[in-house]
Amino acid sequence: MSVIVAPSILACNFACLGEEVASVTREGADWIHCDVMDGHFVDNISFGSAFVEAASRHTNLPLDVHLMITNPDRYLDRYLPFAASVDIHLEAEADVPETLRRIRAAGRKSGLAINPHTPASAIEPYLGQFDILLVMTVEPGFGGQPFMEDMLPKIRAAAGLRDRAGTPFHITVDGGINTTTGRQCRGAGADVLVAGTSVFQAKDRRAEISALR
Ligand code: DX5
Ligand code: ZN
Repeated sequence: MSVIVAPSILACNFACLGEEVASVTREGADWIHCDVMDGHFVDNISFGSAFVEAASRHTNLPLDVHLMITNPDRYLDRYLPFAASVDIHLEAEADVPETLRRIRAAGRKSGLAINPHTPASAIEPYLGQFDILLVMTVEPGFGGQPFMEDMLPKIRAAAGLRDRAGTPFHITVDGGINTTTGRQCRGAGADVLVAGTSVFQAKDRRAEISALR
């Protein structure tokens, strides 16, 4: 299974967003991961749709928009024009099946994100409705946190559910991902690595992206 490396712009230098996005695009990234936070679902506010739209003007890569917000159904339409995929949280206050349906109806990949305390079994009712499962490997809200090793069994369980159900979906890991933890996650069945700090703070971004892959 080929690995997708998705740098998270949460970790980039916001003062030169365009150049940062162009940089990781040049250096071999596959997707651009955009961590939208509302200060309510998570204890932090990051950026909104205008910022993500600005980022989209500096890359030809798919934008994977991760909505860490309480009401993704309410704001979804503002991201669909330039997102290739939108990840909504199972724990959000929204009609999850209807929101996932709207994402697909717009021709985008639908993503279901689960927080560390949410078990893999919670996704079963939604199998077939999402193209990406995003497993948080840190508590959502901030970049630069340490990887939660106890998420590895959950990744394996999700890969097992996928294989038994015969419903293909990407498994994304998000938080504390570097070459070491990325290898552990790939071994457990993940194929999309979201990496913010490890890529944007690397001396050689191309080497870091290649090493993650
Ligand atoms: C947490 C964020 C982070 C970020 C990546 O809410 O979603 O996981 O994308 O963080 P680092 O810097 O650990 O790669
Ligand atoms: Zn994310």
